[in-house]
Amino acid sequence: MLQRPRRNRKSEVIRQMVQETHVSAANLIFPLFIVDGTFQKTEVASMPGIFRYSIDNLLREIESCMKLGLNSFDLFPNIDDSLKDTMATESHREESLYLRAIREVKKNFPEACVVTDVAMDPYSSDGHDGIVKNGEILNDETLEVLGKMALAHAQCGADIIAPSDMMDGRVGYIRRVLDENGFTDVSIMSYSAKYASAFYGPFRDALNSAPKFGDKKTYQMNPANQREALIEANLDELEGADFLMVKPALAYLDVIKLIKDNTELPVAAYNVSGEYAMLKAAAQRGWLNEQRATTEVLTSIRRAGATAILTYHAKEVLENKWL
Ligand code: PBG
Repeated sequence: MLQRPRRNRKSEVIRQMVQETHVSAANLIFPLFIVDGTFQKTEVASMPGIFRYSIDNLLREIESCMKLGLNSFDLFPNIDDSLKDTMATESHREESLYLRAIREVKKNFPEACVVTDVAMDPYSSDGHDGIVKNGEILNDETLEVLGKMALAHAQCGADIIAPSDMMDGRVGYIRRVLDENGFTDVSIMSYSAKYASAFYGPFRDALNSAPKFGDKKTYQMNPANQREALIEANLDELEGADFLMVKPALAYLDVIKLIKDNTELPVAAYNVSGEYAMLKAAAQRGWLNEQRATTEVLTSIRRAGATAILTYHAKEVLENKWL
């Protein structure tokens, strides 16, 4: 035999020398859940180790992450039902929980990268990402609300706006609103290929944001489709996106790879709540080696082509020195 691939696996030093893919703190974005009040830190039942923080505790959590070299955060609000309405007006009210949180984080940690979520669902009495009329999700009318949200986030200091709603034309619409108001430096990380997935279940528990009727299949993508992801990604690129995101990650590694091969933009992947919950549940039962399974998952997402990974594992992998 002339070729013996095992030679390059014979020692730890050589294995590391030929390792093709790495995950580091710089690649990770940590999603954080926020609730109103003070001294709040409540665990999400279906996401062990993940909490909803009031703003005071959110700042402490961010500080401890930054000590670990984790500097990028994606914020999501848990909004009281009494504040929800059909037009998601709470989403752009100056003193809302979410806008206060962005301002506080940027005031205390100006060097942190704050990613903000643009979609109506946490604030919508219908639990949908768009305006609902006669059981239908309206597209163009929703853009106006998304524009107001994105502008409010930018005014509070958001570094990256991440529209997660899947309405048509929203990247271009938001880009225009931002530019017209002087926020040409605020980036857009578009949820380009966001699938109608069962893996968002625990997130909707965390935010109490499940749809009140129906599902999200008229706007989120069919899990069976790959080529459609290219249509979405191309449009977002033309409309001015700075990052193209695929979500979920693990069951969609082929989509990450496909988009990576068809763009020069950085690709992001969202390792979603249900993927986290699955792994935690198995680890808690002793059915998986948690460290190895977690790093394998993150490495596979990088290997598929993701530059940035949004993951609930971000802090623990750094805290435990798993990478
Ligand atoms: C909604 C939104 C969802 C997630 C991020 N933004 C859920 C949904 O579309 O219902 C899911 C994140 C996760 O599951 O971790 N705009």
